[in-house]
Amino acid sequence: MRTVRAPATSANLGSGFDVFGLALETPADVIRVERASETSITVTGVGSTYIPEDPGKNTVGAVAEALDAPARIHIDKGVRPASGLGSSAASAAGAAVALNALYDLGRSREELVAAAAEGEALVSGEAHADNVAPSLLGGFTIITDDGVTQVDTDLSLVACLPEIVVSTRDARGVIPDTASLTDVASTVGNAATLAVGMTRDDPELVGQGMDDPVVTPARAALIDGYDAVRTSALEAGATGVTVSGAGPALLAVCREGRQGAVAGAMIDAFDDAGVESRAYQTNVG
Ligand code: HSE
Repeated sequence: MRTVRAPATSANLGSGFDVFGLALETPADVIRVERASETSITVTGVGSTYIPEDPGKNTVGAVAEALDAPARIHIDKGVRPASGLGSSAASAAGAAVALNALYDLGRSREELVAAAAEGEALVSGEAHADNVAPSLLGGFTIITDDGVTQVDTDLSLVACLPEIVVSTRDARGVIPDTASLTDVASTVGNAATLAVGMTRDDPELVGQGMDDPVVTPARAALIDGYDAVRTSALEAGATGVTVSGAGPALLAVCREGRQGAVAGAMIDAFDDAGVESRAYQTNVG
């Protein structure tokens, strides 16, 4: 038997749509696997009633098939589904690591990214690796057609999750098909600034580099209270705030010592908009 803790993640970080990802120390899923002749899945924890236990419909079933590693798999969800915090990716990444160990497959964490992305494809219709990569590798990750680049980084974060649901499919449906050259240039500049900030553990550069004029404004319209919550977090000591993944969670990067104030400000602002929320004060995982 093997048990693995797989952390939540935040994809995009604003300017790095479908490219950037960041591991969060908390929340996390816990995946337990035992050898079996065919795969079966049980699920407990946050939002478990919404998660199919049929291996043909669950991310971890796809991972077990991709690795040719049938098992009895138990998922204890700490990451709420449809949160924008890489819920299905955490389960997929945890299953990939656990099954790799259970069957002594000898795959590297980088090699497991592709297997875990198969699970993501089952849920979202496309094989995104921008959540599974940071869940597997930790730190800040950059996904391109050529593979994954990872750097360790140290930032103080708040992930604030409102009690509303936005599906990844819906959140992808509102993205504009095209962008102006001006917006592309601005996004490239921001993304480069953010990446340098990650290598320097610099919350000012990371926060500045999170701005994105194309994808985030379209998605923010799906999240009640977004503008007020963002403004409150910035006033309380965040250097940048954006939609986490496909939402509805918001990710804030905080100045030193401001994490508690930012978390409180975000919860209060959601409350003022009539939306309950909870805030995870976390470091990079
Ligand atoms: N990059 C993806 C998106 C993350 O924003 O749609 C969710 O899989």
